[in-house]
Amino acid sequence: MTEPVTLDDFEALARERLPHMTYEFIAGGAADEVTLRWNREAFERIVLRPRVLEDISRIDTATRILDESLTFPILLAPVAYQRLMHPDGEIEAGRGAASAGAIYVMSTASTCAIEDVAATGARIWMQIYLQGDRGVTRDLVQRAERAGTRALCLTVDTPVLGTRNRQKRAGFAIPPDLPTPHLDAIGRSRLSVVSATREPITWRDVDWLRSQTKLPLLLKGILDPEDARLAMEHGAAGLIVSNHGGRNLDTVPATIDALPAIADAIAGRCPILLDGGIRRGTDIVKAIALGAAAVLIGRPYAFALAVAGAAGVQQAIAILREELETAMALLGRRSISAIDRSVIR
Ligand code: FNR
Repeated sequence: MTEPVTLDDFEALARERLPHMTYEFIAGGAADEVTLRWNREAFERIVLRPRVLEDISRIDTATRILDESLTFPILLAPVAYQRLMHPDGEIEAGRGAASAGAIYVMSTASTCAIEDVAATGARIWMQIYLQGDRGVTRDLVQRAERAGTRALCLTVDTPVLGTRNRQKRAGFAIPPDLPTPHLDAIGRSRLSVVSATREPITWRDVDWLRSQTKLPLLLKGILDPEDARLAMEHGAAGLIVSNHGGRNLDTVPATIDALPAIADAIAGRCPILLDGGIRRGTDIVKAIALGAAAVLIGRPYAFALAVAGAAGVQQAIAILREELETAMALLGRRSISAIDRSVIR
């Protein structure tokens, strides 16, 4: 294969090019990878219900989230250490996001500085891993604000890292010379994220983070309707239903299975995004039908970055976008607002 036609093709191509341990780091999940598998299987089990002879002469994938207008409901999820995938790391991914017109959620554990990524012209949301030293987090938030970041995503599902057996078996270690400009402030460029995040983080920290910024704050890693309600009480502007791509706690539900109860609990009070296993345009339709406003992709664009840099990222988004438009046309739903639970059998 030379030309990727699907998102999974990028994975196959990246596997040939990346060092084995880097591939395993990206592709792997936690423990027995049950949740990783469910993230895909749950989408595959959902059966669609097309309507025919609808006017689909103009398919419109545009939508709005938190004052952002999106031409399509696909964002790039935070993925750590992107210089492992491409020499220009997050800057290259930012270039791809900018040319595709997608929001790029940049990881705290990035290998390029926020200012340099912002210079690509990409719309950036900053993902936050709360640090033990709150001053470090405050500095990061201020730096992100100055660089023009438009929202913050606090990752709440990683008080410790999951049991990453596959990564360990492959001997994965973060290279000592890998830059991590947003973690260096605490002198930990060689440490794993786990030691930086082991500080207990609680709902009080959500209040604290909100008090530090005027940016909208999304909570990433919500799987339970009760937590979704609490997130609202604590002023979250949005939620990301996520199980960290099956990388943290194994045997938690697939995100698409967790979504409906959370959507019911939120009842439209804030936007809900979803990630985990999005590989096809039909997956996006299913997520929107069950209550998501938009989705994020993680591994697919990380692999595309490894295969073809910014052009790969742009192409991965283009493939998914086209699949979404095709699915909408074949379902007889011409706009995002026309996608509701009736598209599911
Ligand atoms: C991640 N993810 C992640 N999430 C986060 O909040 N901060 C981070 O630094 C990272 N880093 C990271 C690295 C790698 C290699 C992967 C694969 C994932 C999780 C990510 O944001 C997202 O939730 C999942 O990747 C979504 O699932 P898919 O699209 O990969 O199936």
